Amino acid sequence: MTTKPSPSARADHPQGWRIEDDGDIPAGSRRGAPDFYRVAEARISRRKFLGASAAALTGIVSAVFAPGPNAARAQASAGFAEVRDARPRSVRVPDGHRAQVLLRWGDPVFADEPAAFNPADLSPESQARRFGYNNDFVGFIPLENSSRRGLLAVNHEYTESHLMWPGSPKSDAISPRQMRAEIAAHGMSVVEIERTRSGWRVLRDSPRNRRITPETPTVIAGPAAGHSRMRSSFSPDGIQSRGTVNNCAGGITPWGTVLSGEENIQSHFIGDPEKAGDEAENLKRLGFGNPRHFWGKHDPRWDCEKDSRAPNHFGWIVEADPLDPNSVPKKRTALGRFRHEGCAVFVNGDGRVAAYTGDDARFEYVYRFVSAGRFRPGDRARNMTLLDDGELSAARFMEDGSVEWLPLVHGRGPLTAENGFGSQADVLLEARRAADLLGATPMDRPEDVEVNPATGSVFVMLTNNTKRKPDGLNAANPRAANAFGHIVEMVPPGGDHGASRFGWDMFILAGPRDSGRYHPATTEAGLFANPDNCAFDNRGRIWIATDGAYKTMGIADGVWVCDATGPGRALTRRFLATPPEAELCGPCFTPDNRSFFCAVQHPGEGGAYDAPTTRWPDFEEDMPPRPSVVAVFREDGGIVGA
Ligand code: FEO
Ligand code: CA
Ligand code: CA
Repeated sequence: MTTKPSPSARADHPQGWRIEDDGDIPAGSRRGAPDFYRVAEARISRRKFLGASAAALTGIVSAVFAPGPNAARAQASAGFAEVRDARPRSVRVPDGHRAQVLLRWGDPVFADEPAAFNPADLSPESQARRFGYNNDFVGFIPLENSSRRGLLAVNHEYTESHLMWPGSPKSDAISPRQMRAEIAAHGMSVVEIERTRSGWRVLRDSPRNRRITPETPTVIAGPAAGHSRMRSSFSPDGIQSRGTVNNCAGGITPWGTVLSGEENIQSHFIGDPEKAGDEAENLKRLGFGNPRHFWGKHDPRWDCEKDSRAPNHFGWIVEADPLDPNSVPKKRTALGRFRHEGCAVFVNGDGRVAAYTGDDARFEYVYRFVSAGRFRPGDRARNMTLLDDGELSAARFMEDGSVEWLPLVHGRGPLTAENGFGSQADVLLEARRAADLLGATPMDRPEDVEVNPATGSVFVMLTNNTKRKPDGLNAANPRAANAFGHIVEMVPPGGDHGASRFGWDMFILAGPRDSGRYHPATTEAGLFANPDNCAFDNRGRIWIATDGAYKTMGIADGVWVCDATGPGRALTRRFLATPPEAELCGPCFTPDNRSFFCAVQHPGEGGAYDAPTTRWPDFEEDMPPRPSVVAVFREDGGIVGA
């Protein structure tokens, strides 16, 4: 069937496909290779440009282009031959590109840790000095303004006992030693890397290399710091804390720190939330009571019955300074507590910073934080306090194409003592319940929320929601039993990320051709499902990474690329395909766009240590599949995907 929007297709769609060919990327977009910090500062002036050219509040989506007569022209921005192999054995990238496995689970992060890795005899102490499991977010922080040397910050989301240990044990049957090793495989890694003639290499002797684990000292910062509900057995003052867990996606701030989202925290706590006293309702709202990890059998900190306030130390955005390996990561409580996927920070035209973050669960919300203070170019120490003071709000998507931001401010509207909110800390600790009361729009699992630096538009990855019923549809979540996910674009009026109302439109409905909505020139290889993370290149093209396409469409997860504006808008093309049963996380670029990094997570997840479905990336007997970070670059040294 044709996918060209017909009158009936428009009628089906809550917004229709708005047609406005505004041509090329705005003049303010980046094309060269500016250094990281100048890029951040340049955003301020770009916002002014957008302010002069953007549409008025209504009919705000000026950048939207619907597929139509210019489809042929769209090919011009493609730049690479689409990957046709839908189920490769290894990572597959377009001709002319190379995919290099850079960091595998178990690779030493420090020079004095032996290079050889034997998972069958992995000690907790050794794992704490090695690259962790299930890499997710990947961020590149340039050193000395170089795209050839920098720090790679990587999240390690969770462990899988059946793939890590001989005998393929269930997670509740591992030994205490294995449990402590799994704990050490969580958190984050920071490693220095450099580009050589043949590819990238890890500098294991760099003094900046670091592992952050669930045992690393952390600090609670922002409005919830020191609150009585933060005082637990291991944190009598509610400020000094320990560890970070289930680190999913994240972000790099304009001041060069790393943000990490603590996502499925409920999976790390045993115990019955009903027996958690005053925190029972809070924990139930977060889905406690169905653990995947059983650390609480050995450490009461991970048992919500034994220490009902300990879980309040998790579910935050964590900020870490990769330039200082001795720095203490901080939990930015002003950004609210829920199942944070990641966090994207953008400098608004007035200098305030907007931080966008999604709560990845069915029927949960999209949030925005706007700082009270302003970004000061060059004043890194001060910028590192910006996420402690500001206003958090949740998104309500309206049928008329606008987004209303609903402030989560104590004392305003229903967020009062009568409803159990005694302070702003209560509002933040129970952000989900606050957003419920405000009437935010329940979404189809908000994953990454990222800003296109070329246009200022904000893209929301909505990965799936098979539990949405036909009578529960809303304009921004228009499909019942949504197995394939979709992408929504939010547009700040005049480029003002602090505005109380944005515009929005549907970007792509993913899935097979007959149920999705793509550009009509999209090939079979360009169809995808389950958008999870995304990144933008210097041309403003969106690079979409998926999680679940191998289950829902029978194709490998991977990366699909398209223009975000102009005639190539929504013309997705497959750039990368993963090995079996992996998802693809953490897409990011070096500033010069000559290298692209991504994380292959849970390869062979359906198999077991003793019966693997793949042994990627080593393909050696006795070595299980290993989650790994992959560097992609062109063999001629050119721009990736150009
Ligand atoms: Fe950890 Fe929402 O993916
Ligand atoms: Ca994710
Ligand atoms: Ca995922």
